[in-house]
Amino acid sequence: MLYSREVIDEVLSRNDIVDVINSYVSLQKHGADYTACCPFHNEKTPSFHVSRDKQLYHCFGCGAAGTAYTFLQEYENYSFPEAVKYLADRAGMQLPEREMTAAEKRQADYDQTLKEINKTAAGYFYYQLRQEEGKPAMEYLKKRGLSDETIHNFGLGYANITRDHLYQYLKSKGYEDSIMIDAGLVRFDERYGPSDVFWNRVMFPIMDQQGKVIGFGGRVMGDGTPKYVNSKETRIYEKRRHLYAFQLARRSKREGFILCEGYMDVISMHQAGFDNATASLGTAFTIQQAMLLKRFATKVYLAYDSDSAGVSAALKAIPILREVGISARVISMRPYKDPDEFIKAEGAEAFEQRIKEAESSIMFEVRVASEKYDQQDPESRTEFQKEIVRIVSVLPSPMERENYIESIAAKYYIDKEHLTEEVNRYGAYRMERESYEQAVRSETPQEARRREQAAERKYQPQRLLLTWLVNVPKELFPQLQGKISPEDFREPFLHDLAVKLFQQYEAEGTVNAANLINYYENVEEQKQAAAILQSSLQFEPLPEDNEKTVTEIVRKVKQESIKEQMDHLSDMSQLQAFMQLRKQIPTWKITLDSC
Ligand code: UTP
Ligand code: MN
Repeated sequence: MLYSREVIDEVLSRNDIVDVINSYVSLQKHGADYTACCPFHNEKTPSFHVSRDKQLYHCFGCGAAGTAYTFLQEYENYSFPEAVKYLADRAGMQLPEREMTAAEKRQADYDQTLKEINKTAAGYFYYQLRQEEGKPAMEYLKKRGLSDETIHNFGLGYANITRDHLYQYLKSKGYEDSIMIDAGLVRFDERYGPSDVFWNRVMFPIMDQQGKVIGFGGRVMGDGTPKYVNSKETRIYEKRRHLYAFQLARRSKREGFILCEGYMDVISMHQAGFDNATASLGTAFTIQQAMLLKRFATKVYLAYDSDSAGVSAALKAIPILREVGISARVISMRPYKDPDEFIKAEGAEAFEQRIKEAESSIMFEVRVASEKYDQQDPESRTEFQKEIVRIVSVLPSPMERENYIESIAAKYYIDKEHLTEEVNRYGAYRMERESYEQAVRSETPQEARRREQAAERKYQPQRLLLTWLVNVPKELFPQLQGKISPEDFREPFLHDLAVKLFQQYEAEGTVNAANLINYYENVEEQKQAAAILQSSLQFEPLPEDNEKTVTEIVRKVKQESIKEQMDHLSDMSQLQAFMQLRKQIPTWKITLDSC
């Protein structure tokens, strides 16, 4: 933590979340909340709510939620300290000198060192390429048609043929073995000692948006395997959040982005003048990458390989792009394999023409589907038509659907009325939701685990109880005395949140949800906390019904807690006490005067 709790809370309190968010998306007053179409997913009806009262936002569509800090971290990709700085500036506040604990200082230093060591290695590779030993590598790059300027612009390099050349170099620069290993540049073998991870390869440095080197891809010169060796992920190198050459592409004057599959494709495209080309990092295209693109453009041209792997990668990228509101068009490389080959064979002008002729993602999806089915066979043709219905149904606008149906009907000789009817029946949006949920789910194992945990039904009463506590603290806290404590929240995250909530109430006699969320720096945790703390309760018209609901929740929380504690009992003498307690639970009753 760079700033103290007090500073973080103070900065937040001086910025009204409604104003902060309103400067990015235009909010409409709606009851007690402000609403807009969610900036984090594509939608036509607003499900993004901002509460001035609670100083939180929450999207009922995609689950995005948090404080003004969370919003800035998500929307602007700011780190937590950057978000604090931004809001402090916005409120005209002078931030105190950065305060760091020893552990935080170590972490910050570590990240800094990771960046430095990558930079040092990039410089070393760059230098090696221009030495005598680097000649074969230079020849290889030249043979691939790259100019000196291109080689320089992309910071290309060469990893020496000596087993531990980089290791020795980094050592001479004073780096510890451990950081070289952590950075994925050196590996350690019991028998042979340290050796370089990249060995006799042309090196492609991978940079973040600011142009800082965060990792490498190393290509074999010629046909060997593996074709590429890549840096492993580190604290500064998360493949799903970065794009190759994005530091250049984001500055392009051209319309939209061209999304390729390979490093070589991107480089070739830039050299031919298409300096808006970028690519994911040897892994599938992600929703985070789509959001990054969306911040600069609403149009993306897919320039994937023309083989079946390229086609299926394009089919996966399209719904992800669509979800963030980017319309994708697909550029055909045929008869060539990829953009690199195309440019070499046909040149930039022909490629420009291909961009003009790029197929809309819908027509592309339909065409790919058509190739799977035998149009002469009635059964197969029916399947094809069903698939068309699914494809067209993702379009939210009836007019757009209508236009596509018309083109598709004409192109594939299908009855238009019939198709329209089927599409309307299928219902718009359905596929969209499904594909989005899939994309979100495939984020990271850690996030996925959180989500699964959150979904676990047995913790639902605990979550609900926290929500109730935030909404009616003055009524509930006194009644929970002697019944429920943070101990009874068994899921680790909920437990942690409960501890904070109970402490806050005890210290301040009230609950401030935004300040509670400030305890979390990690966006995922902020989101999770916000989702719980901000959920609105559906109050029933009759107080008895509300009392029944909350009483039920409190009982369930305690029952589950006792059950879990009994399962892990070490001291049998406690058993009696638990059993006694369990008998009392059904007699508990919570009353609510003001709900
Ligand atoms: P390609 O095999 O198409 O490579 O893989 P390329 O970059 O176009 O290179 P050339 O033109 O054949 O020389 C596309 C991307 O997949 C990842 C890399 O990011 C590559 O750029 N990849 C591929 C790997 O990470 N490892 C591999 O072994 C192969
Ligand atoms: Mn390729």
